[in-house]
Amino acid sequence: MEPSVEANGRIARISAHLFPPNLQMEDGSALRRADCRAKGGAPGFKVAILGAAGGIGQPLAMLMKMNPLVSVLHLYDVVNAPGVTADISHMDTGAVVRGFLGQPQLESALTGMDLLIIPAGVPRKPGMTRDDLFNINAGIVRTLCEGIAKACPKAIVNLISNPVNSTVPIAAEVFKKAGTYDPKRLLGVTTLDVVRANTFVAEVLGLDPREVDVPVVGGHAGVTILPLLSQVKPPCSFTKEETEYLTNRIQNGGTEVVEAKAGAGSATLSMAYAAVKFADACLRGLRGDAGVVECAFVASEVTELPFFATKVRLGRNGADEIYQLGPLNEYERVGLEKAKRELAASIQKGVSFIKK
Ligand SMILES: NC(=O)c1ccc[n+]([C@@H]2O[C@H](COP(=O)([O-])OP(=O)(O)OC[C@H]3O[C@@H](n4cnc5c(N)ncnc54)[C@H](O)[C@@H]3O)[C@@H](O)[C@H]2O)c1
Repeated sequence: MEPSVEANGRIARISAHLFPPNLQMEDGSALRRADCRAKGGAPGFKVAILGAAGGIGQPLAMLMKMNPLVSVLHLYDVVNAPGVTADISHMDTGAVVRGFLGQPQLESALTGMDLLIIPAGVPRKPGMTRDDLFNINAGIVRTLCEGIAKACPKAIVNLISNPVNSTVPIAAEVFKKAGTYDPKRLLGVTTLDVVRANTFVAEVLGLDPREVDVPVVGGHAGVTILPLLSQVKPPCSFTKEETEYLTNRIQNGGTEVVEAKAGAGSATLSMAYAAVKFADACLRGLRGDAGVVECAFVASEVTELPFFATKVRLGRNGADEIYQLGPLNEYERVGLEKAKRELAASIQKGVSFIKK
């Protein structure tokens, strides 16, 4: 017969730790706000995933549980968080996993976190653009960011919820209203565009994708996704046909998956992989590693737009340095103008959502 929870204090502690909500907050064993750590140093970071029970959230939670830089992993969702938490918590890796379900537990989920990864929201269905998602996801991102401003304003935010071109400006406006905005700490995740670009370019060049580095700038939707094929490493050149094929495929990679899944959602597995690649880079930056560089959609002065994706150096404060675009060829200059027109409207849409 299994020992009862009452019969064994150790067992009681283990179950309290899995589903901590308020009880654990009250008995003082949970993370307190004083534990909030803006900078690295101590081994192990505290990471929360908001939207952890979703198509992206679940594989993302699994991969973050495998990340040796993570000491505590909070899994928050409005549905099914206990199930995902129980499942992930059985993995014999270092991170301690705790689950949080629904708005009343949002503050506990956020308190003390170093890094927040946000894939909460609805995904695209065939025929929908990322902008079609706007109204639902904009509201979700606003609510979550209001919670972040209160509970953990110094955490680094990795925003995945689409349309990223608008949700990042929304998050910025919410943080500004709350007086907690630090542009370095708010990063829109565009890593999937880079991951796709590396893969597709490697296919064309007949290389291992791990050897290929393609900067992808601009934003994270359609023509705003601008791969800089003239800056690919290792240095190489493409014919006009190859450039058009690659640019098109990279810009429409999301749609390729949405259509193939035929109503069952958008990219989740490759997105979880990309999110972990980016989150791991943020954690290495927080730890103080030198030379951590990734593309991200951030507040920027690289163009006349208030937000733009370029390579950024990730450090102890988030995006510690934002790199310029570098030399563009004629094809990329035309693409940049197109990207900026669409991006300007999407940014404005996000800002107006909060200011209206
Ligand atoms: N940045 C990118 O490159 C990229 C790539 C793919 C998808 N996405 C976006 O990521 C988001 C999630 O996609 P998915 O396929 O995982 O969707 P999904 O529907 O499978 O999962 C979303 C999860 O968010 C949860 N959720 C909804 N409202 C919430 C709230 N208020 N608080 C916390 N959780 C909440 C849902 O319960 C669900 O579990 C979508 O907006 C999608 O468009 C972004």
